[in-house]
Amino acid sequence: MKYIESNNSRLEIGSIEDSSFNEVLGTKYKSSKKVIIVDENTHISCLEYLITTFEQLKDAEVIVLPAGEMNKELGIVNNVWEALTDYGLTRHDLIINLGGGMITDMGGFIASCYKRGVDYINIPTSLLGMVDASIGGKTGINLGEFKNQIGVFSHPEVVYIDIAFLATLPSEELLSGYGEMLKHGLISDETLFDILIAQLKGDQDFSEEILLTCIGVKNEVVMKDPLENGLRKVLNFGHTIGHVIEGHFMNGKKMTHGHCVAIGMVMESYISLKIGLLDEKAYDKIQENILAFYEMPLYSNDEINEMVIMLSNDKKNSNGKILCSLLSSIGTCKYDQAVKEELFVEVFLHFKNLQVNLN
Ligand SMILES: NC(=O)c1ccc[n+]([C@@H]2O[C@H](COP(=O)([O-])OP(=O)(O)OC[C@H]3O[C@@H](n4cnc5c(N)ncnc54)[C@H](O)[C@@H]3O)[C@@H](O)[C@H]2O)c1
Repeated sequence: MKYIESNNSRLEIGSIEDSSFNEVLGTKYKSSKKVIIVDENTHISCLEYLITTFEQLKDAEVIVLPAGEMNKELGIVNNVWEALTDYGLTRHDLIINLGGGMITDMGGFIASCYKRGVDYINIPTSLLGMVDASIGGKTGINLGEFKNQIGVFSHPEVVYIDIAFLATLPSEELLSGYGEMLKHGLISDETLFDILIAQLKGDQDFSEEILLTCIGVKNEVVMKDPLENGLRKVLNFGHTIGHVIEGHFMNGKKMTHGHCVAIGMVMESYISLKIGLLDEKAYDKIQENILAFYEMPLYSNDEINEMVIMLSNDKKNSNGKILCSLLSSIGTCKYDQAVKEELFVEVFLHFKNLQVNLN
C-alpha cells in the first residue's frame, strides 16, 4: 500500500482490502448512515464486490445514476439531494462515490453542498478517475454544453485507488485515461510521455508504478496551488479546446473526456508552434504519436464558429482574453498565454483540412 498526502485528503494506492477503508468505516463512521453513489455501469461491475467485501456497507443505501457525461447536471443532482433528505442523511454521515470521474465530480459536489458539507470518500473505478478526476479537490457539474461550469473546491476524506477495478473497464475508457496521463508527461517529463506512448503501442505493460508517477505529477501541482491561482493552470493543457470539443459533441458522436483532451493537446501544441513557443520537431512528435491513437472528429465550418463562440466563455479567461496553457517544450508548460480568437479559427481550419488524410 502506498500513501500520499494531498491537501486535506489522503490517497491510498493498492488493494482496497489492505487499505484503511475497513477501519475507517468501523471507527469514524461506525454509527453513520452510509450512501454509495454509483452509475449504472459501476452498479453492475463494482458495487457487489464492495458491499460483499466490507460487512459495514451491508445496510448502505445505494443511489444509481444514469451513466455518461450528459448526466453530470443539476437535475440529477437535485434528485440525489432529495433522496438524501428522504434517507434522513445528516452532516455526520458518509457518502461513498464509486465510479469514474463523472461520479466523483458529481458525488463530491453533491456531498459538499448537502447541509453545507457531508464527508465523502472517493473510490475511482476508471483509469481517468484514478490518475486525475478523483484527486485534487475539484468537484462540479456541467451547465448545458459548458463543462464543469458549476462547482466547488472540496476534498474527500480519503481516496482509495485500487487498479483491480480496471478489470471491467471498456478499452476506449482505458484509452481515455491515457489521455490525461499523456498530459502529465507533456507538461512535466518527456520520458514519462515516451513510456506512456510505448505502453499504448504495446511495447511496454501498464504498471501501478506509472499510475503512481502520474498521480504524483498531479498531486505535486495541486499541493503547490490548490485553488488554481497560478501553477495549477498547467493541468488545463489541452482542456481549453478539449472541453469545447467535449461540450460540442456531448449529445451526438460520443467522445470520451480523455479523447477530447488528447485532441485538445495536439491542437494547443499547434498553437504553441504557431506562436513560436514550441519547435517543429517537438510538435511533430506530439501530433504523430497522439493522432496514432486518438481520431480527429469531423466538423463543419459552422461548427467551428459555434466552438469558437464557446471558447469565449471558458472559465480560464480573464479581461476578455482567451487564456491557454501552452507548451514551450515536451515537459514544460506555460500558463496564462493569451491567444487571439482568429488563431483558434485558423487552428480548427488547419485540422479540418487534415481530417481527409487522418480519418
Ligand atoms: N475533478 C477533476 O480534477 C477532473 C479531472 C479530470 C476529469 N474530470 C472529469 O471526469 C469525467 C471523466 O471521467 P471518466 O472518464 O472516468 O468518465 P465516467 O465517469 O463517465 O466513466 C467512463 C465510463 O466508464 C464506466 N466505468 C467506470 N468505471 C468502470 C469500471 N470499473 N467498469 C466498467 N465500467 C466503468 C462509466 O460507467 C462510464 O460509462 C469528466 O466529467 C471530467 O470533466 C475531473
